[in-house]
Amino acid sequence: MVFQAPAAYVRLTPVCGIAGYAGPKNAAEVVYDQLKRLEYRGYDSAGVAFQTPTGLGLLKRAGRLNALRSLMDEEKPEASTAIAHSRWATHGAPTDRNAHPHYDQSGRIALLHNGIIENYLELKEELIRRGHTFQSETDTEVAAHVLGEEYRDGRILEQAMQAAIKRLRGAFAFVAISTEEPGRLVAARSASPLVAGLGEGENMVASDIPALLPYTRRVVILENDRIVSLTRDEFRVTDFNGHPKEYEETLIDWDVEAAEKGGYEHFMIKEIHEQPDVIHRCLAGRIGDDLRVKIEGAFSDSVWQEIDRVNIIACGTAFHAGLMGKRFFEDLLRLPTDCFYSSEFRYSDPLLSPRSLAIFISQSGETADSLAALRLCQRNRIRTLGIVNVVGSSIARECDRVIYTQAGPEISVASTKAYTAQTIVLMLLALHIARVREMPGVDLNRMAEELRLMGDRAQTVLELDDDISALAKSLIDTKLVFFLGRNADASVGLEGALKLKEIAYIATQECPAGEMKHGPLALIEPGVLAVFGSTDPRVREKVVSNIKEVQARGGTILAITTDDDSSLDGVAEHVLKIPATRSVHLNAILSAIPMQMLAYHMARHLGCEIDQPRNLAKSVTVE
Ligand code: G6P
Repeated sequence: MVFQAPAAYVRLTPVCGIAGYAGPKNAAEVVYDQLKRLEYRGYDSAGVAFQTPTGLGLLKRAGRLNALRSLMDEEKPEASTAIAHSRWATHGAPTDRNAHPHYDQSGRIALLHNGIIENYLELKEELIRRGHTFQSETDTEVAAHVLGEEYRDGRILEQAMQAAIKRLRGAFAFVAISTEEPGRLVAARSASPLVAGLGEGENMVASDIPALLPYTRRVVILENDRIVSLTRDEFRVTDFNGHPKEYEETLIDWDVEAAEKGGYEHFMIKEIHEQPDVIHRCLAGRIGDDLRVKIEGAFSDSVWQEIDRVNIIACGTAFHAGLMGKRFFEDLLRLPTDCFYSSEFRYSDPLLSPRSLAIFISQSGETADSLAALRLCQRNRIRTLGIVNVVGSSIARECDRVIYTQAGPEISVASTKAYTAQTIVLMLLALHIARVREMPGVDLNRMAEELRLMGDRAQTVLELDDDISALAKSLIDTKLVFFLGRNADASVGLEGALKLKEIAYIATQECPAGEMKHGPLALIEPGVLAVFGSTDPRVREKVVSNIKEVQARGGTILAITTDDDSSLDGVAEHVLKIPATRSVHLNAILSAIPMQMLAYHMARHLGCEIDQPRNLAKSVTVE
């Protein structure tokens, strides 16, 4: 049988879920449960491998986890050691055969993998010449065969893993079990994330912390280039040459509910509603009683004085937060700031002055393009600062300094609370630098007071939820939605548009409102909706003119403005009002929330699969 990968799958991002367990419980059920907790990552097939008294068992199914569940219900696997994987196709279509784990040639070893083995084709040819046969088209099966070849001459699995890694090029998190070492799991990571959980009489590994939380709170976030060998009561970490390495144990204080939906229909709406808390958490300890903004983890004052330029580098929603940061830095600090998509920056020949600062914004801290761009800056000896949500993630570890957004785990693929936290951190940072650089004209106390009110104001915005749901329902036949605004409202519009297209699959057109007449206006016709951000009183009159331009061509308007403005009442067909702050920048930050709710409710009324939108992934860990 020929397995030909459809083009669409060839370079999709692997955001695979990994689970592995050794302990007294039925390991096959534990790892299945752990995969369930990683479902948010997106996947297209899943499998479990386990040790039996007579060898290894392997159950795999394309499709959702309940397909694997049915198979497990038939087979009823019982094991004290098991590994499991939910796959996002990169090499080979999402079929039963291509699902992980994979056996080596002898069937003594089962291996699962997150990442990409770049030299798998040459290795595969070499192995075929030596008589190996393959069941799948995956790079992972090739890695399993290499591991199997190295499992010889009295080597234990851990040593075979060291030897195999020397032959493999690429990014990986591996977990393997062998028939010959009952009760043992061996895992390795390079570039792809892997965490371990330490329990009482049980140990485990996973690709992400939520999988571990029901079982243990003692977590080891594995550093890059590490091998772990564990049994139910043994746990050791080495480097790729077998030298023992110290590891740090972190006590995770998230409750299990924090990683689950907590009563909401979807993670996305739960996370939207977490934003008041997120803002409070993000500000906690960062504004003193004297209203002085102080950020731990940032550079010393002399560095802030020296910096002559900022480059903000990020992807997706984090990039949009960066665009807001550019406005804060340029408006408040008069500090030239550019924003780059990481994927563009990493292959460019950027103008990097030695006094510049590169800021990397990332929710996951694992985005491959951002990580590559970070390494490019480091090779050029540019100072780097991370604004990151996931503690201990690669970007957090590799930046010179890191400021955590403290938004808690974000599970919905469509990012919401991370964006708000990123923009709040950028504002805090701007205020911190403004104090150090003694910026004239920036009323630091007033801004700090306003920031402190942001959590409560976000709560007020959330009260629009029912109105927005009803409005969204009336708009679900809309085929094209414009997102328009001026200044910071234009930047927020990009994020509003991204939310709508990624979860409701509605086409959007976004641009500064004044740019409409240079092309996009041609798309306006009856049935088109235009969402106007109008939270900046300095340009509101201009926005009203733009609204009229759209209406004259049959478009319908939804305006988002502040509650002290009545100029749009009776002008726009729909008006949503958010609390007015004393800062145009903070107004704009708040205006993202009704846009998130609009996207969510339109997607819900359309019956879309909100937390795992098609073709998208939460954390894009390959190029
Ligand atoms: C993916 C996610 C987005 C996210 C982007 C950057 O595309 O679906 O929500 O904004 O990656 O991710 P990062 O983790 O670096 O913020």
